[in-house]
Amino acid sequence: MLLLGIESSCDETAAAVVADGTRILSSVVASQIPIHEKFGGVVPELASREHLRKIVPVVDEACRQAGVSLGEIEGVAVTEGPGLIGSLLVGLVYGKALALSLKKPLVGVNHLEGHIHAVLLHNAAQKQAGPSVLSSSFPNVTLVVSGGHTILFRVEISASQGAIAPLFSYHRMGQSRDDAAGEAFDKVAKLLALGYPGGPVIDRLARYGNPHAYDLGRIRMKGNPLDFSFSGLKTAVLYRVRGTPLASEAEEREAWRKSLRNQLNSEDLRAHCSQATLDMVASFQEAAITDLVQRTIAAALETKVNTIFVSGGVACNSLLRQRFSQAAQEHNFGVFFPSPTLSTDNAAMIAAAGYYKLVRGEQADHSLTAHASFPLGDGRL
Ligand code: KG4
Ligand code: ZN
Repeated sequence: MLLLGIESSCDETAAAVVADGTRILSSVVASQIPIHEKFGGVVPELASREHLRKIVPVVDEACRQAGVSLGEIEGVAVTEGPGLIGSLLVGLVYGKALALSLKKPLVGVNHLEGHIHAVLLHNAAQKQAGPSVLSSSFPNVTLVVSGGHTILFRVEISASQGAIAPLFSYHRMGQSRDDAAGEAFDKVAKLLALGYPGGPVIDRLARYGNPHAYDLGRIRMKGNPLDFSFSGLKTAVLYRVRGTPLASEAEEREAWRKSLRNQLNSEDLRAHCSQATLDMVASFQEAAITDLVQRTIAAALETKVNTIFVSGGVACNSLLRQRFSQAAQEHNFGVFFPSPTLSTDNAAMIAAAGYYKLVRGEQADHSLTAHASFPLGDGRL
């Protein structure tokens, strides 16, 4: 079954053609980073306008790269939430119109479910695991960690007799009470004038800093020990920077960055950072990643599963991957990630998640609409 996936929940306009939920024939992502960069974060109104400009060419390009015509598409899977409402509506309305005109089935997909399926999709594409990964990887604990979300799920599958595709069920075990982890990376990078998005920049610069130079405190909260909180960590960085030479250095860096016409080169950026700034960046990353890994391992131990999935933009982080690999060996867990391009927002993951729904007979009708807030699964909110 050839599915067209469409994703436009935040600042990426994406379309992909995926065969049988496992083979990626194309995956096109038009990033809006240059548009939002100067604001240090996504500006919703600008994002919607850019989606409007990009949606048609991106879908056309996905079909071209896959070598299929729109008429050969057998179904359309589109993100229905959560996300920025104006952004979501562009992809959703276009996908809906396309399905209607092609007389093909339409299915709405939760963006978070897409991130979870990105792990299966990547592993299927790598041929490390074909359909067998389906039964051997569940139940598992999945950490979805991005610029908009930090959530721990227990994911199960049930294959009722006679059903062609398994049914996935999601149980929320914990989530961020304030900022998402990726948002904290972006805000710290903004504070230190390092550019946007902050995650990849901090990941690269942190290699040159001492992760134990600044004690930013441990993240402690009352209540559910599997919840996250990153606003305190971000504030701890703010207090260590405000009124210090780190702040004036950031101001100078901001002026230097503004004077540049071309895309910033990471070596030049490093040359414009003092050792103290590199140490701050490394200390922040160390604190954030340690917390993410520890709580995820705690969730896996509590659930008594031996598989962990990690997905979402922050899953690209090199320290996070390294720490999870170490923890996996220590506790004998299997830890699976998507490739970096499937970790960040893309439409192949939406088509992959939509495939299982369509095969199970789930279909959306013309009343399908976008939801800014759209919790996945049951459990705590
Ligand atoms: O999944 P994604 O593309 O979009 C959302 O659904 O939010 O994630 C984007 C987020 C941004 O906050 C970005 O800074 C973060 O992922 N990110 C990273 C890395 N690459 C992207 N964070 C830490 N380390 C990275 N290497
Ligand atoms: Zn995402």
